[in-house]
Amino acid sequence: MRHLMSPMDFTVEELEELMDLANDIENNRDKYSEICKGKKLATCFYEPSTRTRLSFEAAMINLGGQVLGFASADSSSAAKGESVSDTIRVISCYADICAMRHPKEGAPLVASKKSLIPVINAGDGGHEHPTQTLTDLLTIRSLNGKIGNMTIGLCGDLKFGRTVHSLINALVRYEGIKFILISPKELRVPDYIREDVLEKNNIPYQEVERLEDAMPSLDILYMTRVQQERFFNEEEYLRMKGFYILDEDKMKLAKMDMLVLHPLPRVNEISVEVDEDPRAAYFKQAQYGVYIRMALILTLLGLNKK
Ligand code: CP
Repeated sequence: MRHLMSPMDFTVEELEELMDLANDIENNRDKYSEICKGKKLATCFYEPSTRTRLSFEAAMINLGGQVLGFASADSSSAAKGESVSDTIRVISCYADICAMRHPKEGAPLVASKKSLIPVINAGDGGHEHPTQTLTDLLTIRSLNGKIGNMTIGLCGDLKFGRTVHSLINALVRYEGIKFILISPKELRVPDYIREDVLEKNNIPYQEVERLEDAMPSLDILYMTRVQQERFFNEEEYLRMKGFYILDEDKMKLAKMDMLVLHPLPRVNEISVEVDEDPRAAYFKQAQYGVYIRMALILTLLGLNKK
């Protein structure tokens, strides 16, 4: 039995196979519409979500399976003090696979140790968000034709943004990747990412504060939201939240084929006027999230025969 806690749990070859399967699903939806008949996905979300939870549920329904679960800790027995270890042992009696989001880093890993069914980390605190990374990789590969030999700008809250941490971990294994890390000094990537991931793998990177300075060199711009829920101080959050706003004027500085990605939700870091720009790929990215989660469910259930 296999779980997914980090994008590093898959080799690059396995990631490529997963993306091939997702693209096949995209192009042949009917072929997959009953493959999970009789199977159940549990979504155990101790933290709010729109995309991750609903795209997992849409994925299982598209595969002919069924879904059950809870959307907040308050509506589960966590509110009465139940541990994730006990919860997953019980969920193992009800479902065939589980996607879990939790505010505590490592909680899905703890659950996986006691689980009798595959557990997928659907986001744990400020740590990792592997299925967002699978979505990001599929979006880049599908729209750009390849992953590699590209300069990627990661902009915004690089300290608390778990999608950024998972994406850097995944991308350093591809050829010719350069990063421009664009953030205020208070929200720079954690030292463990800089030292243990970027420097250890000899990955070229720059840290800059001004988005305008980075724009002309980028092939991909990955915008992120300032993670209000991880700040201890409201005043500090308010000071940071308007730091970057991508608008039409800044888009004029970019390459004509640069892609703009964002894991969403956005607050105000991308002006709505940018949505009409053909380089804005964040809503397509949300659609790719369904295909890759379908591919992941099939793979973890051992049903991934094309
Ligand atoms: N991208 C993402 O994780 O969105 P949700 O928080 O809505 O699931």
